[in-house]
Amino acid sequence: MTGAGRVGVIVVAAGSGSRLGASVPKAFVPLAGVPLLGHALRGVLACAAVSEVVLVVPASHVESAQAIAEAVCREVGPAGAVTVVVGGAERGDSVASGLGALSAGVEVVLVHDAARCLTPVEVFDRVVAAVTAGAVAVVPGTAVVDTVKQVDVEGLVVATPDRSSLRAVQTPQGFRRDVLVRAHAASSDATDDAGLVERLGEPVLVVEGDARAFKVTTPADLETAARLLAEST
Ligand code: C5P
Repeated sequence: MTGAGRVGVIVVAAGSGSRLGASVPKAFVPLAGVPLLGHALRGVLACAAVSEVVLVVPASHVESAQAIAEAVCREVGPAGAVTVVVGGAERGDSVASGLGALSAGVEVVLVHDAARCLTPVEVFDRVVAAVTAGAVAVVPGTAVVDTVKQVDVEGLVVATPDRSSLRAVQTPQGFRRDVLVRAHAASSDATDDAGLVERLGEPVLVVEGDARAFKVTTPADLETAARLLAEST
């Protein structure tokens, strides 16, 4: 596929985030007074190519997500349609729920973790550009600085992959819509959407990611995010 094709973004925010130890689901934890989901949505809407956004949230937080979306849309001005749907037990279920809510005209789908709430717009732009230039699936990734060991159940090392060939991958991950739908119909148990597409035998391209696209997982990550935000304002 080349050229036009409406771009829809699924923001998955239905996880509990138990490792953060907060009393609300992770995407609703405040960062400088704004829930992580609000920061994530701001980042998504900064990408001019995006025409619609689906927020996938826990059933308990639909109204809260709608209020967050209204507040962000008021702040950023006219934006594409933002809808809110309920997610599922596993991340894959939440992505499938988001896929079902995209309108018929969407041909390029980005899947983004709300927890990667400070992802800069350049990463969205790079992913969209690569898919619209013809790639089937695109993931942002960064070089791995640690040496990575593959271990067995006893903790014994079985392999040391060549570090120069490894990438730590992030979101947004971008796909041709038909390919992502096919991948989700075939399986759903990968830790990222590109993993499902790989199983179809389709090529997945890595473009440059960004350290700021890290996933907020622990209380220390939340502190890092607060510091980055303070430095950028
Ligand atoms: O748990 P983890 O941090 O890996 O989740 C990554 C993203 O997937 C988060 O933004 C989380 O809200 C989302 N998720 C989801 N539905 C689930 C599990 C995770 O939307 N059932």
